[in-house]
Amino acid sequence: MANPILQARTAAKQAAHILPHLKSSMTILDVGCGPGTISLGLAEAVPNGKVIGIDLNPASIKHAQELAIESGSTNATFQVGGAEDLAAFPDASFDAVHEHQLLPYMPKPVEAIREWRRVLKPGGILSLRSCSFIINVPELPGLVAYFTHLPKILSRRGGDVHAGRKHATWLHEAGFDLKNARLDSVAWELSGADGRMTFAAGAGNRLREPLLALGMATEKECDGIRNAWEEWKGMEEGRVITLDSAVLAWK
Ligand SMILES: C[S@@+](CC[C@H](N)C(=O)[O-])C[C@H]1O[C@@H](n2cnc3c(N)ncnc32)[C@H](O)[C@@H]1O
Repeated sequence: MANPILQARTAAKQAAHILPHLKSSMTILDVGCGPGTISLGLAEAVPNGKVIGIDLNPASIKHAQELAIESGSTNATFQVGGAEDLAAFPDASFDAVHEHQLLPYMPKPVEAIREWRRVLKPGGILSLRSCSFIINVPELPGLVAYFTHLPKILSRRGGDVHAGRKHATWLHEAGFDLKNARLDSVAWELSGADGRMTFAAGAGNRLREPLLALGMATEKECDGIRNAWEEWKGMEEGRVITLDSAVLAWK
């Protein structure tokens, strides 16, 4: 089963910054598309065009393909692939390239953005949305531990949980002219019983394996994190709020 946090995402919510710039016949590449919910929303916005979603995870791609069939989408296709090597795609083959929350996991973000720029047509749009800041309420000790460990685990793998803060720098280094970019930020909030249930289901044991493998926490500490998410799930005041950098850059 796909990660429930990712399954709840939509283009209307998570790609709102690019939707007004899409035209019906555009061809879009969604890099690190996960289970494809955002890609399918983008496909609806380009009914005479198409969306290709790529992701390293074969299970996510299979889920996205099934979802495309279920939803009757005829202009979205999905394939397994790494977002930093788009050798399968010629130069200038897309009107837009979109990423949502992939950059935090990428050890070589500038090289990746340069590759995304290569496959964009002149005048094409690069759309980035990644986290700049996370707030969790209330600050249960197990959740503080979770949000303290998360950046460390990502950084041990070469990523950056706050990748959104570096969007502009990376765009510049990858060859984009920031005069042709729109830098913006959007807040995202997860709250309410359904939202908490979804988030807690994804987060509860998410860090257990890397924390144990990297010797960063004991089984008991991992149990504490999981129990904190269980407790938080039932708290009406429970919220996770992120501030995301949402950027458009024209080639
Ligand atoms: C946080 S998820 C975001 C998924 C989707 N964009 C969304 O917001 O629903 C990050 C995704 O990036 C994928 N991923 C990580 N590194 C990748 C890479 N180098 N190339 C392609 N996909 C990658 C993961 O498999 C995962 O599906």
